[in-house]
Amino acid sequence: MARELTQLELLKELAPVAEDNVNRHLKIAKDWNPHDYIPWDEGKNYAALGGVDYDPEQSQLGEVAKAAMITNLLTEDNLPSYHRVIAENFSMDSAWGHWVGRWTAEENRHGIAMRDYLVVTRGVDPVALEEARMIHMTNGYDPMLAAAGRADELEEYADELGILHSVAYVTFQELATRVSHRNTGKACNDPIADRMLQRIAADENLHMIFYRNICGAGMDISPDQTLRAVTDIVTNFQMPGAGMPNFRRHGVLMAKHGIYDLRQHLEEVIMPVLRKWKVFEREDFTSAGEQTREELSSFLEQLEKDTIRFEEMRDRSLAREAKKREQQAS
Ligand SMILES: [Fe+2]
Ligand SMILES: [Fe+2]
Repeated sequence: MARELTQLELLKELAPVAEDNVNRHLKIAKDWNPHDYIPWDEGKNYAALGGVDYDPEQSQLGEVAKAAMITNLLTEDNLPSYHRVIAENFSMDSAWGHWVGRWTAEENRHGIAMRDYLVVTRGVDPVALEEARMIHMTNGYDPMLAAAGRADELEEYADELGILHSVAYVTFQELATRVSHRNTGKACNDPIADRMLQRIAADENLHMIFYRNICGAGMDISPDQTLRAVTDIVTNFQMPGAGMPNFRRHGVLMAKHGIYDLRQHLEEVIMPVLRKWKVFEREDFTSAGEQTREELSSFLEQLEKDTIRFEEMRDRSLAREAKKREQQAS
């Protein structure tokens, strides 16, 4: 295997790429204000200020939209966990430090806008939402833990989790949240929610491009090492909501109704990024890198099979539910 670069060497080699990409981002990122996306007219006081508290009848959102909104918002709420990963693995100097601050500030807008929308429109129970936020943020979430699954087998491997694993993770995670926000917007059946989530999804896309470019540069600088990190992340990938209250129930609803499912994960998130990095065309891997690529390939083949199996199960389940509704109606 080619010599692996240390974390310090990687940060130094990738610093000019980070700088170019911060500048590129600042040029194309659009400033926007969360309050411009909220229908304040629809709001009224809760009981503590003489109004009425939440009642499920007040919500205009369906079950799927509610589950997706809550999952996506709690994910955004957990920004301190993501900030920690980025801040610990990037340096806080120069372009790296600037990006960490800027990215965190941009992400914070997402949670502000979504919470204001839900509280003003009474889309979900604000008390349950607050309780879930307290639990999820108190637990925190370490996205690197998933990749660190390998550390159990190979203790020394834990030290190698660093910038490459973190940029690989956030590349896929930003794209996954983009897909999830976009589809949640459609599921809300409200043009105001759709517009807000389109705006947020556009931010996630720019974030993804930043991380994808850094990781792509890593692939050029240290191909075997970067592919190892990418493969660890792809084969252990968990959506950032893992561990939050009701994640399983909400995740199933979201997958069943096209907010975020295995097909989207494979075809809209994993594959476009791997293609962009030319993972399956490159000729700069050593034999160790070739082996990693085979590992990645067989994982993807299995994922395709799992996707087909999931879709068959989902279709059967949706057909059963439709039949039940028909019977109930007749
Ligand atoms: Fe976000
Ligand atoms: Fe983002």
